Amino acid sequence: MHARIIVLPGDGIGPEVTREAVHCLRVVADRFGHTFTFETHLLGGAALDATGEPLPEATLTACKAADAVLLGAVGDPRHDHLPRAQRAETGLLGLRAGLGLFANLRPATLHPCLVGASPLKSDLVRGTDLVVVRELAGGLYYGEPRMLDATRGVNTMAYEAWEVERVAKVAFELARTRRHRVTSVDKANVLEASQLWRSVVCRMATDYPDVELEHLYVDACAMAMVTRPTTFDVILTENTFGDILSDEASVICGSLGLLPSASLGTGTPLFEPIHGSAPSLAGRNVANPIGTILSAAMLLRHALGLDREAQALERAVRETLEAGLGTPDLAGTVTVLGTSDLGEAIRSRIGAAVIA
Ligand code: NAD
Ligand code: IPM
Ligand code: MN
Repeated sequence: MHARIIVLPGDGIGPEVTREAVHCLRVVADRFGHTFTFETHLLGGAALDATGEPLPEATLTACKAADAVLLGAVGDPRHDHLPRAQRAETGLLGLRAGLGLFANLRPATLHPCLVGASPLKSDLVRGTDLVVVRELAGGLYYGEPRMLDATRGVNTMAYEAWEVERVAKVAFELARTRRHRVTSVDKANVLEASQLWRSVVCRMATDYPDVELEHLYVDACAMAMVTRPTTFDVILTENTFGDILSDEASVICGSLGLLPSASLGTGTPLFEPIHGSAPSLAGRNVANPIGTILSAAMLLRHALGLDREAQALERAVRETLEAGLGTPDLAGTVTVLGTSDLGEAIRSRIGAAVIA
């Protein structure tokens, strides 16, 4: 197959982790006889520095015309004082909106060999395997009205029924391919937007009698995630709650640097690790590239329909971890390598994994 992939390295550790993931995709293409073309574009602080905008028109146009987008991370502390329109994060939000992406899948699976890297007790976390389905196109991130002046800041959490329906459908369908369980997370005891969310999810559940539905308030869910993480299968939630809960899920599985994501919707799908630009790690060859490499695996599966290839890459990551290799965020549980050496260790296992 021939696929056109846009690469958006972004800021901070973004370029280092995307470099490793792109190398992995090149190896996969080579092993399986595909042709992937990669085109790099600017996003975030890097784009702001070069063009004055965090999401240049050329970037969005290229992404719209591609088969998939692979992103590192955005965010540069040098720009944190700038107005919202010029912030790196605004570039990412514009990209998600511009591509019509509304469902963000964030799988959090604890590899058995990383049980010791979790800050929680081993017996409690062993077997954790959940996916956060985060609504990505609405809620507080995009709601109107919004404003800021010297004395007032306003944001709006608003959902239309159809926005809840389309992301809930993704969660229910996903649950059917897994353990047939959805936990819908809201704050329906306080927020009208959540009351609508819950009623729409309840209505849709009647179409999925084979899927068990649980509702949790977001505060209780944050607690349950650290007291009974293994009981979750698919967690369906709105934009802000999903942002927060997925960072929590990541460390339960060992490190924020491990978690990938896929953002799906009406346009070109986008794949990115859930972590940020980690400015203090940038340029030091210490960042964990696994979240981005597993995002590349999700790209193979969800954007290109290459399930076997995705599995081969995921298996190479698993075997590398099983060999006891990792980056400094997993120190104490692994032999510590640099970002590029860990990437190479994973790539060296892709071929073997195919034959196995
Ligand atoms: P962060 O995710 O960058 O870092 C949080 C912590 O996790 C830090 O201690 C960091 O060193 C560590 N960490 C993150 N990724 C890691 C990796 N791959 N390997 C090892 N350790 C890793 O979050 P933050 O510090 O709150 O934000 C930094 C910047 O990133 C901000 O500008 C923020 O807006 C941005 N951000 C961007 C994205 C994105 O691009 N999707 C996501 C989150 C934050
Ligand atoms: C993430 C990030 C982004 C978000 C920021 C950088 C806009 O935290 O992808 O999790 O909140 O969606
Ligand atoms: Mn986040």
